[in-house]
Amino acid sequence: MDDFDKESEEIDDFIEEKSEKKFDNSIDQLEKKGIDYNRIRNIDQSKKRAVIESVFDERTVFNLNKLLINGPLDRVEGVISAGKEANVYLAYDTEGNEVAIKIYKIDSNTSRWMRNYIIGDPRFKKIPHNVSKTIFLWASKEFKNLKRAYKVGLSVPKPIYIRNNILIMEYIGFESIPAPLLKDIKTPKEPLNLFSEILNFIKQLYNKAKLVHGDLSEFNILYHNQQPVIIDISQAVSTQHPKAEVYLARDIKNIFNFFDKLGIQTSNPEDFYYDVINIDV
Ligand SMILES: Nc1ncnc2c1ncn2[C@@H]1O[C@H](COP(=O)(O)OP(=O)(O)OP(=O)(O)O)[C@@H](O)[C@H]1O
Ligand SMILES: [Mg+2]
Repeated sequence: MDDFDKESEEIDDFIEEKSEKKFDNSIDQLEKKGIDYNRIRNIDQSKKRAVIESVFDERTVFNLNKLLINGPLDRVEGVISAGKEANVYLAYDTEGNEVAIKIYKIDSNTSRWMRNYIIGDPRFKKIPHNVSKTIFLWASKEFKNLKRAYKVGLSVPKPIYIRNNILIMEYIGFESIPAPLLKDIKTPKEPLNLFSEILNFIKQLYNKAKLVHGDLSEFNILYHNQQPVIIDISQAVSTQHPKAEVYLARDIKNIFNFFDKLGIQTSNPEDFYYDVINIDV
């Protein structure tokens, strides 16, 4: 019996014992207390319920409950974002600090496209066929990417904990108000500084952390204390990945387009691309 089967048995016992009390409370809380309803994507209540239920399969319920009973979590406060692949919650750890929890949904469509990013990455030699295992690998990939970027001093949330499809990281926001996404900031205070901070992020991520984000845009950058904090780094690939340069060019294009639209005079994206990969043209 491998760890996966052993855990499945534990889960069955857990469900039979009907010891989900603490979690039930959390579910109630999540449904009643959206932190900031304006921030939750526009979904009606019935959809929200479906979203929560689809995230919380039995294994996730079991693992989340373990984290609430044994730490590091004290309570889950509410939904920050309910998305297609993952939901993000504001929670508190046992010391009363805010943390963000990202829970990936166990979904076969999701696991199918995820495989494209995992195949070809030299860090992942064994590619699982099982849907759950692919999602767990994906979540651990986000955790590892966060660690790599954080270690070289880049502006990403500090990774705290990973278990299967549950990732805990530093919460970016002020008290219960999560930081806004850059896409919602119409007039950033010092746009040129912001632009150069983000370009610097791309460059350092490539040259120091040896990664390419792969989904970088104003939709995955939080604006906090007038500084960018880059999130959603799960699909980031190693610079050795066969498509690394294609993803890099796309990331650069997205950022230049955003600042062009803001009316900032940007330099030439192509020059910047060659600058990142250290080629003199
Ligand atoms: N550490 C954090 N602190 C505060 N808010 C966060 C944090 N991480 C994520 N968020 C919020 O949650 C949202 C979704 O997070 P993220 O971009 O990582 O997930 P996602 O993979 O895009 O989810 P989906 O694609 O399913 O919508 C973000 O747009 C942001 O508003
Ligand atoms: Mg995102």
